[in-house]
Amino acid sequence: MSKITYIDQAEIKNKRILLRVDFNVTLNPDYTIADDERIRQAIPTIKYLLKHRNKIILVSHLDRPKGRNPKLSLKIVCRQLSNHFPHLKIKLVDDFLTEKKETFTAQKPNEIFVLENIRYYPEEKSNTNHFSQKLAALADIYVNDAFGVSHRPDASVVGVPHFLPSFGGLLLKKEIRMISKVMDKPEKPVVAIIGGAKISTKIHFIDKLLEIADQVLIGGGLANTFLCAKGIKIGKSFCEYEQTQNARKLLFLAKKKKTIIITPEDVVVAKSMTGNDSRVIKTETVQAGDYILDIGPETQAQYGAIIAQAKTIIWNGPVGYIENPAYRRGTDFIYYAITHNPDVVSIVGGGDTLAAISKKEYLDKITHISTGGGAMLEFIEKGTLPGIKALKSKT
Ligand code: 3PG
Repeated sequence: MSKITYIDQAEIKNKRILLRVDFNVTLNPDYTIADDERIRQAIPTIKYLLKHRNKIILVSHLDRPKGRNPKLSLKIVCRQLSNHFPHLKIKLVDDFLTEKKETFTAQKPNEIFVLENIRYYPEEKSNTNHFSQKLAALADIYVNDAFGVSHRPDASVVGVPHFLPSFGGLLLKKEIRMISKVMDKPEKPVVAIIGGAKISTKIHFIDKLLEIADQVLIGGGLANTFLCAKGIKIGKSFCEYEQTQNARKLLFLAKKKKTIIITPEDVVVAKSMTGNDSRVIKTETVQAGDYILDIGPETQAQYGAIIAQAKTIIWNGPVGYIENPAYRRGTDFIYYAITHNPDVVSIVGGGDTLAAISKKEYLDKITHISTGGGAMLEFIEKGTLPGIKALKSKT
């Protein structure tokens, strides 16, 4: 089987590079950047390519805009990049399809171009050849350093490599090597903690986690779907009701595979998501007007005891509504418990997971922090991703 060639294994000099990155940074409610970890993680690749006198055109998505939405412009990303590269000019290309050709041919070595949010174009998702070719025409070489979005069969992820010599970036290399190393023969007990809101993306991977993990601890929006599946009322809480049947199947499968799926015994609820009129109640007593916003103390204690016994931990997704800092306690506690188990090998993934942590002083105790959320889970499940396969078929 062919292998990926990474940029540090090839002679890439004086080229125009289309560099796919995942700058889908966590945003505050006012659309400022809450955490720029994904930008910082791509810096080694950017520096490496610049050092070899290449000119870089960055491509990224931000969130899931339906058409052009100024709130999801990559302007904020450009400003943040300028802070990291104060000596460079960071230029946002508003619409690469209508931009003059000369803009690209006149790019200077001290300039980085950033294409506007690639999901402003519906063709990114529909992955048309025509759109991929238009992107490919901007450069000599394509580099994928966007591990976090490599599970999406989008034009800028899997389409462009059909039309250009293609390589993996340094972040992609680090992610693949670290996750493969941890998952090769994970020491038992293996505990997975899965939370967050992207339920339909994650629920399918729990199937695979049932084969690897001894216990799967559920939190966040995902927990609400599992509670529904068990017939427990969740009031006005966030839930993807169409996924409840899948959740029910997983509960059944877990029993067969002798993996334990654990949902919260108690929860923090409030009458609105923004207020702080919260109270802790048993999960079965949630009222029609309640929002479940965090796991409760009893659940923290139970999850903490399981984490303390674990030898391998996979964590993806916050366990509470972290957009409101009042509901970060559960997520902070999970982080504390993982980083205070000295015997554990841990992989933590998903931009939102770490953005949620209030005090980050124990980050170095985590074995690998992945920039991928859904991508990390799919890579654990399948050992590859569409974006990785697209690079392999080119070498
Ligand atoms: C992520 O945040 O997991 C990646 O950037 C992919 O985003 P998506 O789930 O909107 O495709």
